[in-house]
Amino acid sequence: MSLLKSATFSFALVVSLSHLAMAVDSPNLGQPVSEADLAAWDISIGPDGKGLPAGQGTIAQGEVVYAAKCQACHGEKGAGRPNDALVGGFDTLAGDKPAVKTVGSYWPYPTTFFDYVRRAMPWNEPKSLTNDEVYAVAAYVFSLNGLIKPDAVMNAQTLPQVQMPNRDGFVTFPRTAKID
Ligand code: HEC
Repeated sequence: MSLLKSATFSFALVVSLSHLAMAVDSPNLGQPVSEADLAAWDISIGPDGKGLPAGQGTIAQGEVVYAAKCQACHGEKGAGRPNDALVGGFDTLAGDKPAVKTVGSYWPYPTTFFDYVRRAMPWNEPKSLTNDEVYAVAAYVFSLNGLIKPDAVMNAQTLPQVQMPNRDGFVTFPRTAKID
């Protein structure tokens, strides 16, 4: 009887010790992320254009992409409705309350358009566009905003060179500064 008891006890001890060992090593949740999985999210593009992929697109190609995949939410020629306007608003930023903040009037860098659209648009199907489609729709939206010539082609070299009108409209705000 006592032999049985002590056997049960040491079995229980072994089981709980091995649990303890596992708990110390790791919680055993998840698995290491693979290079391939990581690559799909490691797609940030800075203002200098570093990280832009190969590919290209024209304004005419972008018009086709826009009509099929953007217009339902952003309106004809980027005028907006039901969602944000992507065009215009250039003379609305000077006052206390900037009124119409669009890609053309507000965004400081053309690269943000590529990064954001590739990552987040179309809203209902993010990350579904090819790089060529993103370059093309960038060309179309930049052209609607009067930022590029009619024969411009957007690619990794040309896109970062597009001058956004509000490029110098942002200031660095030191955290110690006082707001009146
Ligand atoms: C199903 C509706 C829908 C479709 C289709 C769609 N969008 Fe959007 N888009 C949105 C919504 C909603 C927002 C606002 C998202 C937010 O504020 O987080 C947005 C925001 C944006 C913005 C940022 C606007 C700003 O000034 O802040 C851009 C640029 C944009 N979309 C481009 C596109 C492009 C290009 C396409 C087509 C490839 C597209 N969208 C397709 C719904 C859509």
